[in-house]
Amino acid sequence: MPKITVIGAGAVGATTAQRIAEKELGDVVLTDIVEGMPQGKALDLMEAGQLMGYDSNIIGTNDYKDIEGSDVVVITAGIARKPGMTRDDLLRINSNIIRDVSQNIAKYAPDSVIITVTNPLDIMTYVSLKTTGFEPNRVFGMSGVLDSGRFAAFIAMELGCSVRDINAMVLGGHGDTMVPLPRFTTVSGVPITELMPGSTIQRLVDRTINGGAEIVNLLKTGSAFYAPSASVTNMVEAVLKNTGRIMPVCAYLNGEYGYSDIYLGVPAKLGREGIAKVIELKLEANEKKSMDNSANAVISGITALNKL
Ligand code: NAI
Ligand code: 2OP
Repeated sequence: MPKITVIGAGAVGATTAQRIAEKELGDVVLTDIVEGMPQGKALDLMEAGQLMGYDSNIIGTNDYKDIEGSDVVVITAGIARKPGMTRDDLLRINSNIIRDVSQNIAKYAPDSVIITVTNPLDIMTYVSLKTTGFEPNRVFGMSGVLDSGRFAAFIAMELGCSVRDINAMVLGGHGDTMVPLPRFTTVSGVPITELMPGSTIQRLVDRTINGGAEIVNLLKTGSAFYAPSASVTNMVEAVLKNTGRIMPVCAYLNGEYGYSDIYLGVPAKLGREGIAKVIELKLEANEKKSMDNSANAVISGITALNKL
């Protein structure tokens, strides 16, 4: 059985562990800084095995030694921005957490593929790469799968069609500057630009960009975790089963799309080695302009991080 570690046993981490077990993608190690909590959640998940029909072994721990030999490590550890906290405060706190977590991954799971989830996503993925010293194909982030999943959900609700027939594409950074691409978003192969007026598409694009905030406003405490955990589980599956699926991934760019030494959401082929290939779409001028805007936001984040 492959071994998957999920670091951070909060809402996204624990639900990811559940989804991985229910799909029997492998054995799961759930870790957190809080003592007892990952152990309790892991035991609860073990006790659901007979009921849900899975044989995955799930352990909870506070000891990084237990992640030894992991094939994939998912990082969800971090804190959410609280009232009164600036973006820089969040950047400082979460980057320190990601550094600590990444040092331990490099020490105990040096051959693993890392999938980051913690926000601000594009910057935290960059921190993990620089801390681990892993090859860039083995360190990437989850954002576009979620943002595209949200775009697909809104299109299906609008058209009253099956969400399963929708293939949506959202690139760029995970935040206000993300880049939903209607031209590359299809319903059974038909671009949505042929199915809806521009004003409707713009409304759905705006809702997608605000998708995370919409859930936060409804939940009042905490942020989305069902769709995020489903997104990361899809990525874990693509890696472990070496499927070659092409997904929007927060990937390290070294010249692709004209950007270097940054992470940005782009389509990428996933396999056992992580990112097998970054796919370069032919973007129109307005699409490229939006990508530039998004890349600049990520560069500002990296610059802010370096000044802390
Ligand atoms: P949560 O607060 O429920 O869980 C975070 C967990 O991390 C907590 O259990 C906490 O104890 C743990 N933690 C904190 N410091 C740690 C450390 N040094 N080592 C190990 N564990 C540590 O938060 P939730 O909802 O699970 O979200 C986790 C992160 O994922 C947040 O940064 C959130 O913004 C981000 N997120 C990103 C998404 C994306 O699309 N990339 C989607 C959804 C959430
Ligand atoms: C989301 O998009 C909070 O990044 C998280 O739901």
